[in-house]
Amino acid sequence: APQLLTTVRATRAALERKRAGGMTLALVPTMGALHEGHLSLVRRARELADVVVVSIFVNPLQFGAGEDLDAYPRTLDADLALLAAEGVDFVFAPSAREMYPSGESETRVTAGHVGTLLEGATRPGHFDGMLTVVAKLFNIVGPDVALFGQKDAQQVFLVRRMLADLNLPLDLEVVPTVREADGLALSSRNRFLDATAREAALALSAALQAADAAAREGLVELLAEATASFGDHDQVTLDYLVVVDPETFLPVDEHYRGRALALIAARVGATRLIDNAAITIG
Ligand code: PAJ
Repeated sequence: APQLLTTVRATRAALERKRAGGMTLALVPTMGALHEGHLSLVRRARELADVVVVSIFVNPLQFGAGEDLDAYPRTLDADLALLAAEGVDFVFAPSAREMYPSGESETRVTAGHVGTLLEGATRPGHFDGMLTVVAKLFNIVGPDVALFGQKDAQQVFLVRRMLADLNLPLDLEVVPTVREADGLALSSRNRFLDATAREAALALSAALQAADAAAREGLVELLAEATASFGDHDQVTLDYLVVVDPETFLPVDEHYRGRALALIAARVGATRLIDNAAITIG
């Protein structure tokens, strides 16, 4: 079973011993309620480093007022059992008080303009809170490599830029999105979906497939096809369907050719879901 660490001090001490012995460290940051998507990050981490650390912390700083911070699933015992089966060495699962002794963090990392778009437009402050806790986790654990899922493409973009902008001394490893057999991207929030909502949620991955199928015809056609595929639902409300340049994360115009990212967000009942796909336009 992994060694469970709950304080910053104990984590630094335990990992310092590993580093002093010449071992490399991988960190997989999570908010728990683990599923096969998280576990694929853990398996890749095992391949990349001698010591695997998984953090489990539902970070209050990245939830806005009225969001699902209190409802967010917390399943620590089940999470620890899954991580034991993967041969994880350490789990860092601090309390909110341990991470934010004064209640919150006055000092924040700001995500900049891209942090205000897409997910950041619906969730003001979300990416500042995310980058702040990720920077703290990097400083507590000191990993050689940290692993993130492509499922959260905007998060990956912003973490990559933080590493460059702040000269943080670690590598970023991005792992492909893990999906159910019918295409639904795995998410901790999928457990809120009943059978009808689960069926309706397929509209997201289906729209991305339609976008990919029409991508050769250009941006206007692919957006039309994807929107038509998404259709009108009682259950699902489209939040955005956007194509961005992977280099800048800014929306592309109709003249754009080449590699791009199609991004979708929708609400299924009270549950907000996101997904994305790499496409090539033109
Ligand atoms: P969480 O939503 O728990 O996700 C933890 C990691 O798992 C993220 O890097 C996410 O992209 C990845 N992940 C989630 N679903 C996935 C899937 N279906 N396939 C592949 N990877 C998947 O993202 C966060 O937590 C937080 O913002 C965090 C980075 C921990 C900071 O609080």
